[in-house]
Amino acid sequence: MSEPLLALKHISKSFPGVKALDDIDFSVQKGEVVGLLGENGAGKSTLMKIISGVYTPDSGDIFWQDKKIKLKSIMDAQEKGIAIIFQELNNCPNLSALENLFLGHEIRTSANFVDFRAMKKKAKEIFSYLDVQIPLEKPVGKLSVALQQMIEIGKALLANAKLIIMDEPTSSLTDKEVQKLFQIVKELKERGIAVIFISHKLEEVFIITDRIVVLRDGKHVGELKTSAATQDELVALMVGREMHSFFSKRTKEASDETILKIENFSGPPYIRGVSFYLRKGEILGLAGLIGAGRTELALLMIGAEQKTSGNMVLHGKEIDVRSPWQAIQHGIAYLSEDRKMKSLVLQMPVRANITMAIHSAVTGTLGMLDRKKELEVTNSFIRLLDIKTSGPEQTVNNLSGGNQQKVVLAKWLATKPSILILDEPTRGIDVHAKAEVHKIITDLADKGTSIILISSELPEIVALSDRVVVMHEGQVKSVLEKKDISQENIMSTVFSA
Ligand SMILES: Nc1ncnc2c1ncn2[C@@H]1O[C@H](COP(=O)(O)OP(=O)(O)OP(=O)(O)O)[C@@H](O)[C@H]1O
Ligand SMILES: [Mg+2]
Repeated sequence: MSEPLLALKHISKSFPGVKALDDIDFSVQKGEVVGLLGENGAGKSTLMKIISGVYTPDSGDIFWQDKKIKLKSIMDAQEKGIAIIFQELNNCPNLSALENLFLGHEIRTSANFVDFRAMKKKAKEIFSYLDVQIPLEKPVGKLSVALQQMIEIGKALLANAKLIIMDEPTSSLTDKEVQKLFQIVKELKERGIAVIFISHKLEEVFIITDRIVVLRDGKHVGELKTSAATQDELVALMVGREMHSFFSKRTKEASDETILKIENFSGPPYIRGVSFYLRKGEILGLAGLIGAGRTELALLMIGAEQKTSGNMVLHGKEIDVRSPWQAIQHGIAYLSEDRKMKSLVLQMPVRANITMAIHSAVTGTLGMLDRKKELEVTNSFIRLLDIKTSGPEQTVNNLSGGNQQKVVLAKWLATKPSILILDEPTRGIDVHAKAEVHKIITDLADKGTSIILISSELPEIVALSDRVVVMHEGQVKSVLEKKDISQENIMSTVFSA
């Protein structure tokens, strides 16, 4: 009845200090969409890298269409028909869309010249099949994440892939882009192409998959037909126990003391006349659709971009913030939504990344690095945020995606800011860690830190915020008081704009 395309038997893989995969069995049928779930560091990406030839397993066997195979490289896997779209996209940002699409597989003329005309024709065919408009000459680094993914999917189709692995493809897509991606997954399925889909968003996994496999601590802990699975069951499998409350509740109310006033901010690219205030110990939600200008506003506030008009009043005194460094001096920290590009030095250890913004605090009297202090701070954050790492010396590159996000959070918490701007702080992190981050946010606020929370997840905004500023097209549409905060009210404000 079902045709096994890929089967893994007893796969194990260790890295120094961690058994990432422990005796895993895993299979995919032709035309099947399999969801892979698990907490940060559970081993999802590692398993996918084994299937796609990036890593070789320490032990275990791989069968492709019932034949035992060894995958020696990504190329090797590609030739078999296995394609992967990595969690952290690894295309060549400076090359054009066309060049990326055909990288390593250029079409050549009989005289062995690269045949651009034939490549363009083929590219147009593929993108029209995918129903996307992609400027072929543009460097892909300048395209949206969604379009970059479409190029990767195009590449998989070009290579006649029978299995396409998507590692957290939706984490930086808008709702509309997610719908589009799902449409494509359905079409792939109809063509008999199998898809492995990784996401921390359970709703998505319910919509798009046929079967769900759950990993925990490198072990295969459960497998369910999607139609028979429930959310509670999946969460229990992932975290290894029942979890009832996802959202932390505030124990204290924000004080009446206004700590920060933003007056009439305007600036690039399209922020116009934004004003609001922030109280001590308050969590102020910033809601709006992607493109509403929330990140752009934050960048103006910390001086990463220069405003064209407006004032910022901190503790009753006007301040002039022209760089993120000056913002930190004033006790304002910003956690960027884009952890890889802006916040981490991937080749450096966890220790250096966490203490990067508090260099002076871990420097001794003679200007020498105080190793002991540095380790103390690092270890306290590894414990506080439950960062899964083999230790403070692990390079951040080797952490799972979600654990990288926790390192970024630690880096900014270490500056002990009085105002903390969090931009999508729970993107890409699992349910359990998310609950932890929510608890950390409410604890910080209870202790007097003022927080501006930018999030595309309305339940998160609704559960945590004391007030919500709703933005649309670079302007403030309305400010909701605690009693008026609900998903419906926020959405109707956005759409009445
Ligand atoms: N190249 C590597 N070197 C050392 N350790 C690694 C390496 N790659 C992964 N690990 C470790 O293996 C474990 C599994 O990581 P993996 O990236 O597979 O997790 P994941 O399930 O994809 O998590 P996430 O949801 O956060 O992306 C983690 O503890 C991680 O730190
Ligand atoms: Mg991963």
